[in-house]
Amino acid sequence: MCGIIARIGRGSAAETLLSGLENLEYRGYDSAGIAVQNGSGVTVHKTSGEVSDLKSSLDGRPHGNMGIGHTRWSTHGPPTDENAHPHTDTAGDVAVVHNGVIDNYDELRADLTAAGHEFESETDTEVIPHLIDEYLQSTDDTERAVRKAVDTLEGSYAIAAIVDGEERVYAARKGSPLVLGLDDEEWYLASDVPAFLDHTDDVIYLEDGDLVVLEPDAYRITDLDGTRIERSVDTVDWDPDDAGKGEYDHYMLKEIETQPTALSNTIEGRIDGGDVAFEALPPGSFDSIESVQFVACGTSYHAAMYGGQLVREAGVRADVLRASEYESTAGPVDETTLVVAVTQSGETADTLDAVRHAAARDARTLAVTNVVGSTAARETDDAVYIRAGPEVGVAATKTYSSQAVTLALLSQRIAGDVPDATPVADRAAMLEALEALPAHVETVLERGRAETLARELLDSDSYFFIGHGLGHSVALEGALKFKEITYEHAEGFAAGELKHGPLALVTEDTPVFAVATGSDDDEKTKTNAIEAQSRGAPIVAVGPDDQPLADVADAHLPVPDTHPVWAGLLANVQLQLLSYHAATQLERPIDKPRNLAKSVTVE
Ligand code: F6R
Repeated sequence: MCGIIARIGRGSAAETLLSGLENLEYRGYDSAGIAVQNGSGVTVHKTSGEVSDLKSSLDGRPHGNMGIGHTRWSTHGPPTDENAHPHTDTAGDVAVVHNGVIDNYDELRADLTAAGHEFESETDTEVIPHLIDEYLQSTDDTERAVRKAVDTLEGSYAIAAIVDGEERVYAARKGSPLVLGLDDEEWYLASDVPAFLDHTDDVIYLEDGDLVVLEPDAYRITDLDGTRIERSVDTVDWDPDDAGKGEYDHYMLKEIETQPTALSNTIEGRIDGGDVAFEALPPGSFDSIESVQFVACGTSYHAAMYGGQLVREAGVRADVLRASEYESTAGPVDETTLVVAVTQSGETADTLDAVRHAAARDARTLAVTNVVGSTAARETDDAVYIRAGPEVGVAATKTYSSQAVTLALLSQRIAGDVPDATPVADRAAMLEALEALPAHVETVLERGRAETLARELLDSDSYFFIGHGLGHSVALEGALKFKEITYEHAEGFAAGELKHGPLALVTEDTPVFAVATGSDDDEKTKTNAIEAQSRGAPIVAVGPDDQPLADVADAHLPVPDTHPVWAGLLANVQLQLLSYHAATQLERPIDKPRNLAKSVTVE
C-alpha cells in the first residue's frame, strides 16, 4: 500500500526516483509524485494516475541531486492531483511522502489549522509537513523538529522528508516497511528493495522507532531520543533482472513462466537424503508443539490451506485461519501452538496483527515469507524463506507455488518432531516427485492449451472452480486469480458443496473447472462435476491425463503425472495461464488490476 523512495547523491535524482517508483508500483498506482531539492528550493511534481502519467506530465526532468517520491494506493481521500504525494507545509518548504495511516490526523489537523496552517488535500499525510514546519518555528534544528513531529504521530508510517535549503533526507518508520540502500556514492530509502536494486544490493532493514538522516557522504540512524543506533548491512541475493519485465508483455506472464527457476530455488538444499531439512529449523524444533495454526490472507491463505491439509494428514491438529478474522476465531492458543504466518510480502497488516495476537498468548510463531528483513520475518520466533525472487505483478503466481511447496516440506519437518505424528507414508516418492516439479511446470507451460480455451469460454456468465482435498485449495486460488485480473465473476467451491446451493446458478453459461490431483478424491470430484454437467455446464478437467474426470470432461487442461501432493500445483499453473489469457483477451491491465495493491499494509 503506497511505495515511497528517497535518494541523495551525486548527479540528478529525478530519473532514479521515477524508475524506482515504477518498480514500486505494485504497492499502489492511483497517483504518483516526486519532490526534488535544488538551488531554487523544493519543487513538487505530482498527478493522479500512474508513474507513466507523471513522467509524461514532466517537461524534462527537474534538477536536483536529492529527492523523494511516492506511488499511492488511496486510504484517505480519492486519487486526485491534490491528494497525490508529496505533501508540503503551507509555504512549500517541507515536502513529505508517507506510507501508512495516521490515526490522530483529525485532531492534529484541527490544532494545526487553528495555528494558521492551510491544508490543500484530504489526506492524513498532509499533517506531517505542517507538523514539522510548526516545530521548526521554535528550533532551527530540523532533525529535532522531525523527531518531535514523528513522536506526535499515532498510527503507522514510513516517512521521507526534505526541507528547503538542506542537503538532507529525513526518514522514520513505525509499522510500515523502510529499507536503506547503500551505494558507493549515493544512498536510497524505499519501501522495498526492487526500488533501488539496479544500483545496489547492500541494504539495512530499518526497524520501528528508527529515524534516519541521509547526507551526501554520510548517513546516521538514531532512535526517537536521538541516541545513535548501529544496524547491520545485509546483501540481497536478488538479481536486478528478476525485478524487471525483460522481454515479457507483463510481469505476471514472466512470473508464471519463471516458476521452474523459482521452484528450484525454493527446493534447493531442503531435501537431504530422503528427509526434509530447513536450516532455520533443525530436528527437534517442534518437539513441544501439539497443534498448528496457519494465518494468512488471499492467495497466501490458499497456500496455507495446502500446508494445513498436509499437516493434518500427518496426524497433527492444524487449523487454517483467515488472518483478518483471527482474533475472533483462533480459540485457545498457548505455548504448545505453532502459529505460522504465511505472507509473501511479510507486511500484510491483517497477518501481522494475527501473529502478534498469537505471540501475546505465548504461541510459538513462524513466518513463511518471500522477503528477507520483512516485518513478519523480524517479529516471529523463526522465519523460513520461500526464495521465489521478486514478484511485481499484483496477482501472486510464483509466490503461491513456492509457498505451497515450502509449506508441504514444512509439514514433513513438523511431522518428524511432533510426538505421534506420521510423515507421508511414501515420503521418498513424494520428495523424488518434488525434485521433478520444476521440469513438470516447464511441460505445463509448453503445452499451452489455456489460451485457446480462454477464448472459447470467454462469453460466459460466471466461472466456477471446484476440487476436493488439495484440489479444493487450488480451485479457490483459480477463482481468485480469475476474478482478480479478468473482472469476470468467478467462484471456487469444495466440489461437494455445489449441490448445497451454488448448483442453482449453474447453466450452460457457467463453465466448471474441476481440479484433479490423481488421488482418490478425483472420483468424488467427477461425481460433482457430472451433477453440474447434467445441468448444462461445460466441464473442464484440470489435472493429469490418467484420472476419472478426463473421461467425462468437455475439455481438458492437462498436467504431467506426478505424486498427488504436487499435481494440484501443476493444475494451478494451468489456471494461472487461463486467467492470464482471458484477461489479456479482455484487455485488462494485467499487472495492475483496479482497486488492488500487492502489499496490503492497512486493516
Ligand atoms: C492475490 C494476492 C493477495 C495476497 C494477499 C496477502 O493475487 O496476491 O490475495 O495473497 O493480499 O498478501 P501477502 O502474501 O503478502 O500477505
